[in-house]
Formats: sequence, C-alpha cells, structure tokens
Amino acid sequence: AAPTRYEAERAPATCDGTVDTDHAGYSGTGFCNGRNAVGAALQFTVDAPQAGTATLTVRYANGTTTPRPAGVTVNGASAGSASFAGTGTWMTWAMATLTVPLNAGSNTVRFSPTTAGGLANIDALDV
Ligand code: GCU
Repeated sequence: AAPTRYEAERAPATCDGTVDTDHAGYSGTGFCNGRNAVGAALQFTVDAPQAGTATLTVRYANGTTTPRPAGVTVNGASAGSASFAGTGTWMTWAMATLTVPLNAGSNTVRFSPTTAGGLANIDALDV
C-alpha cells in the first residue's frame, strides 16, 4: 500500500521545540525544529495494519555539515538510531529510512537527539 504521511507539526505528533516555516520545501504546514539539546524529542503516533517489521521514512533537512544523530524508540523500547547527515542547506530535504518493529494498531515512534546539536529539522514520517 502507499505510505501514510504523518506530519511532524501536527497532532498527534509532539515537537519538543518550535514548529517553523522559514525553510521552504516542507510538506503540510511546517516542520519540527527540535530543541538543540541531548534528550529533546519528537514523537509520532502512527498506525500499522499488522504487527511486524516496517520500513519508515523520515523527511528531514540538516543545513550543517555535521550529522544530527538520534536514538529511535518505538513503543518505549529502543529501536536503533538514525544519523541525519547534512543535506547541504536547510531547504534541502532528504529521506532517511529505518526499519523498526511495529505492533498492529497504534504505535509511538520517538526520535531523541544524542548530541547537543539536537535533531535535524524534521518534516514528516512516512509509514
Ligand atoms: C538554524 C536554522 C534552523 C535549525 C537550526 C539548528 O537556526 O534556521 O531551522 O533548526 O539552525 O541548527 O538546529
């Protein structure tokens, strides 16, 4: 099936930072500019039709030359990490994929930065 897009700026997502619109190219009505600190977070709530391993795609921009790594937590359990490498400019959006276990029905997918730079700007999560 075609992926469902969950926007970072819209509930049920929660952005620990600001929802911004100053860098063009985002989908929906903005993007999450997370707080630049270890332990900040962006959490999505997504649906899965069935339990199993799913490939998720994060749409993000990182206008620096330094990765913005994040831990990934699914339903409260660690599910690996994502690196969010630089994309060149804050208006250059890229896709990062990650493979995680999902339950049937509702799931939380949380990104929490592991360096003081915080998260990349995150536009959306495709499930
Ligand atoms: C700039 C940019 C923001 C970005 C921030 C950062 O201020 O305009 O969109 O989030 O850098 O480094 O995180």
